[in-house]
Amino acid sequence: MDWEWNYVVWSTIIIVPTVIIVFSKRSSCSYKLPPGPPGLPIFGNMFDLGTLPYETIAGFKHKYGPVVWFKIGSVKTMSILSAKIAVEFFKNLDFAFAERKIIETMLVHDYHLGSLAIAPYGTYWRVLRRLCTVEMFVHKRINETVHIRRKCVDDMLHWIEKEVNSMDIKGNGIEVTRFVFLSTFNMLGNLMLSRDLVHPGSKKAFEFFNAMMRIMEWSVNPNISDIFPSLRKFDLQGLKKKMHREMGKALEIASTYVKERMKEREDGGEKKKDFLDVLLEFEGSGKDEPAKLSEHQINIFILEMFLAGSETTSSSIEWTLTELLRHPEAMARVKAEISEIVGQNMKLEESDIDNLPYMQAVVKEALRLHPPLPFLVPRRAMHDTKFMGYDIPEDTQVFVNVWAIGRDPEYWDDPLDFKPERFLNSKTDFKGQCFEILPFGAGRRMCVGFPLGEDGNDSEEIQSFDCSTKKNIWLNWNAVT
Ligand code: HEM
Repeated sequence: MDWEWNYVVWSTIIIVPTVIIVFSKRSSCSYKLPPGPPGLPIFGNMFDLGTLPYETIAGFKHKYGPVVWFKIGSVKTMSILSAKIAVEFFKNLDFAFAERKIIETMLVHDYHLGSLAIAPYGTYWRVLRRLCTVEMFVHKRINETVHIRRKCVDDMLHWIEKEVNSMDIKGNGIEVTRFVFLSTFNMLGNLMLSRDLVHPGSKKAFEFFNAMMRIMEWSVNPNISDIFPSLRKFDLQGLKKKMHREMGKALEIASTYVKERMKEREDGGEKKKDFLDVLLEFEGSGKDEPAKLSEHQINIFILEMFLAGSETTSSSIEWTLTELLRHPEAMARVKAEISEIVGQNMKLEESDIDNLPYMQAVVKEALRLHPPLPFLVPRRAMHDTKFMGYDIPEDTQVFVNVWAIGRDPEYWDDPLDFKPERFLNSKTDFKGQCFEILPFGAGRRMCVGFPLGEDGNDSEEIQSFDCSTKKNIWLNWNAVT
């Protein structure tokens, strides 16, 4: 090699890294990121998060304040840890963060293209969201389906009774939560498709249930492909492959239900008035929105309702029961209230709930302490954004840590104690307008199934709601969606 060539090689080796370092320093200097724990090169803070990341991240607040910044592998992440900052976020930046971070396993069978929960913020999302809020989760329809939920609860009680009778329960507990989960699944099955999806007589229904269980499992498994997107083509844990298989099975079964219904409708069968009929009857303008929903989109929507609604609902019930068992005085008060209002040995009906303020307070308190989605469904910055004086780069994922917010000592007295009384005579509620309790999220992407989770209030009622907490803030989200 002559000296000139040598010169080129050596200067490249020295100059290129120097330029990269100088420029990267410059760009990180010009970006003012929120404070956060120092991370390792490549891995960021992924080893700091522990087995309960929401708890670990909540702990960052003492050192770094209520908005923290860290990296999980190469994924830029911001977390919001106080109610005060949540107000700023939802009030001023809900739009800038209206998209979701999409995980790799949700790309199979083009799930992300038919989904509502991870759809980009745009026309298709708006169409599905409108169908949910105007046609499906409305007072009238929810009231029309009271008998379905009654039947599912009766079935659950019957299963539990049978289990008790078939075993010696001394010393062996009964796994009540399993029955709660199955019953939730059937409630959704009836709302969506007018059928029980867990019953001994149907092999197909059980296959669907099993496939859905595995989809839920694979979708919450930490995936190297999400942490290091450059490795995604290798699918190192095989999660995408497994998801492809199970999602394929579930979609195929959902499609047989949809086809059966289409045939029934063609043959002039009686209208079911369930969610599937709403989807089949949808007629869009065809201009800026689709004229019809495709069969694939309908199948995905059906799966989504189970994914979004079953585990969240059953884990809320499970935590409420657990807290009541841990607090016998609260259990005694709930029982006394039910006896007084409903009468002993009478069945509690949904219409009684309005007259059971202590029971409502118990549910709120359980959801304050144990929100089923402690980070909500993570949002994503659609573009570079200023927030609280910080520069948040495009594509940053956001964990609104509602677990930490529900325990924020600035808002809650004795925040770690289970005290349902705090909600008596208080208008604090979880409708997305009181930012110190957000188990259903807030803003444009707030849970659409929310009216099912409480007592069936629909959007008009939510708009006139006011909360009487230390900060009195409410926003009319329905006007902005
Ligand atoms: C106790 C029960 C439930 C809880 C705690 C819950 C919680 C949540 C949360 C935290 C979000 C994200 C909100 C945000 O990003 O601000 C969400 C979104 C969603 N939930 Fe629920 N949920 C429950 C029940 C249900 C049910 C029963 C359904 C449907 C049958 C449902 C369907 C959805 C959908 C479709 C979304 C996505 C909305 C969007 O992105 O626009 N959820 N839920």
